Amino acid sequence: MRKLVYLVAVTLDGSIAGPDGSDPSGPGGFWTPAEDYLQHLIEEYPETLPGPARAALGVTAEGTRFDTVVEGRRSYQVGLDAGVTDAYPHLTHVVFSRTLTESPDPAVEVVGGDPVAAVRELKRGAGKDIWLVGGGELAGALYGEIDRLIVKLSPLTIGSGIPLFGRQAPFSPAAWGLADHTVLPSGAAFLTYDRRPGAAAPDAGGR
Ligand SMILES: NC(=O)c1ccc[n+]([C@@H]2O[C@H](COP(=O)([O-])OP(=O)(O)OC[C@H]3O[C@@H](n4cnc5c(N)ncnc54)[C@H](OP(=O)(O)O)[C@@H]3O)[C@@H](O)[C@H]2O)c1
Repeated sequence: MRKLVYLVAVTLDGSIAGPDGSDPSGPGGFWTPAEDYLQHLIEEYPETLPGPARAALGVTAEGTRFDTVVEGRRSYQVGLDAGVTDAYPHLTHVVFSRTLTESPDPAVEVVGGDPVAAVRELKRGAGKDIWLVGGGELAGALYGEIDRLIVKLSPLTIGSGIPLFGRQAPFSPAAWGLADHTVLPSGAAFLTYDRRPGAAAPDAGGR
């Protein structure tokens, strides 16, 4: 079955973006990716580069891991604000939103229903794995559905920001096994963890 893979850039203190939700590596952002980080992304995960970045870098590789990307509306909005209605034209692109009544782009499917049900249906289909790009709120809603976590760890702390699983995720410890890792000279690291089946700790509420 296809996996849901949350591949995401994270600071050392567990944030995926600053508190205001603006693009960390966009204009005026706090994070400029190092050259070796970009090179590793191009070599290993070319399909996760947005279309405009692929064009600017001359990347045409299809990639081997993902053919579908799912994202929350506020993450999608970052592209919309930059005039990009489909940042991933090379992938099947699904945006979860209860407020968008129609899709700004015919190639982007807007889903207003339950993300868990929608992702379960995607998983049952044929194809490569499904990339959960973020953001934190959607990742929190899909917390129990994430099979693999690929953390692109940047050697940076920001003190306060949007956490990996957003601000509303329930307290629900889960155990993950390290499946792969690459530590780059710049200090960035790519860490791949698979959910350990049946190893989730019991709901610790009240203990
Ligand atoms: N570091 C990284 O790799 C990375 C990756 C992606 C994004 N980001 C950053 O993450 C930030 C956005 O994250 P975020 O946590 O604020 O928002 P988000 O998860 O991207 O989007 C939240 C929105 O998704 C929709 N949504 C969430 N749960 C839903 C549900 N259960 N059912 C239906 N729709 C649902 C809602 O849209 P509506 O309000 O329209 O209903 C909600 O407002 C941005 O700053 C972006 O730059 C970082």
